Amino acid sequence: MKILAIESSCDETAAAVVEDGRRVLSSVINSQVAEHRVYGGVVPEIASRRHCENIVPVVQGALDEAGVPLTGIDAVAVTAAPGLIGALLVGVNYAKGLALAAGKPLVPVHHIRGHIAANYLAHPELEPPFLCLVVSGGHTHIVEVRSYTDFRVVGRTRDDAAGEAFDKSARAMGFPYPGGVYIDEAAGRGDPGKYKLPKPRVEGAPYDFSFSGLKTAVINLLHNAGQKGEEVDADSLAASFQRTVCEVLTSHLEAAAKELGYRVVAAAGGVSANSGLRAALGEMCRKNGFTLYVPPLSLCGDNAAMIGAQGYYEFLANPPAALSLNAAPSMDI
Ligand code: KG4
Ligand code: ZN
Repeated sequence: MKILAIESSCDETAAAVVEDGRRVLSSVINSQVAEHRVYGGVVPEIASRRHCENIVPVVQGALDEAGVPLTGIDAVAVTAAPGLIGALLVGVNYAKGLALAAGKPLVPVHHIRGHIAANYLAHPELEPPFLCLVVSGGHTHIVEVRSYTDFRVVGRTRDDAAGEAFDKSARAMGFPYPGGVYIDEAAGRGDPGKYKLPKPRVEGAPYDFSFSGLKTAVINLLHNAGQKGEEVDADSLAASFQRTVCEVLTSHLEAAAKELGYRVVAAAGGVSANSGLRAALGEMCRKNGFTLYVPPLSLCGDNAAMIGAQGYYEFLANPPAALSLNAAPSMDI
């Protein structure tokens, strides 16, 4: 079964053709990041307009790359929630038009479910149940993946998402947007033990996260050093920040896996590309004898192939969506 998948929840216009939820026949991503960088973050209005301009060539590109005509597609899957509403609406409406014109079923996909499903594309042996750490620009969750379409959130951030903490701290350190990858690079050159940063815990909720205090600590450290005319070792600050975030994420996932009895764990989302996090998760899993799955770097960030993977399992489990389908800026997984 071949699914044409569309993703437009943030600043990437993406389309892909995926076979049986596991095989990527094509994947096209048009990123607007260079344009949003000027503003230090994604400008929703600009994102919507660029999706509107890009969606036709991106979808056509995915069909061409796969060598499949629209008539050869079995269903159209689209990210319907969560995300920037104006951005989502472009993808959802275009998918509805295609489904109507081609007479194909329409399959709505939850963006976070899609991130998790990126792992199915890279790891043919991976099947639920497993425990997944989802870390992106907008989300930080520990999720029980009970089946392909049954999820339970075990822990979540109470304030900033992990990616948001990376990006806001990176901005304070003077890196361009989105700064996560720059912190990752700088951290490789620094001493992670040089700066002591707080590791906030949420009282009574051992699997929840709180990252806003950490970001504030970085901003304060830079501010105080500036006032005193002291040099900050930027590489070591990046390394200290990254190690702190990775320790928090890894230790909560470890505790949840032990408590809930999961021996298969996974990571997903843009921040799962972080080299420090991948190393820390690998070490934790080796120590506990857990099996770890992480997506390849190319599937960590937003893409449509992951939507096609999850779309397949949604198609098997649910009736197709009505053509009155709407997008939603937020939605439980
Ligand atoms: O999943 P994603 O592409 O978009 C959302 O759904 O949010 O995640 C984007 C986030 C950004 O915050 C970005 O800085 C972060 O992922 N990111 C990284 C790295 N690569 C991307 N954070 C830390 N280290 C990286 N190597
Ligand atoms: Zn995402």
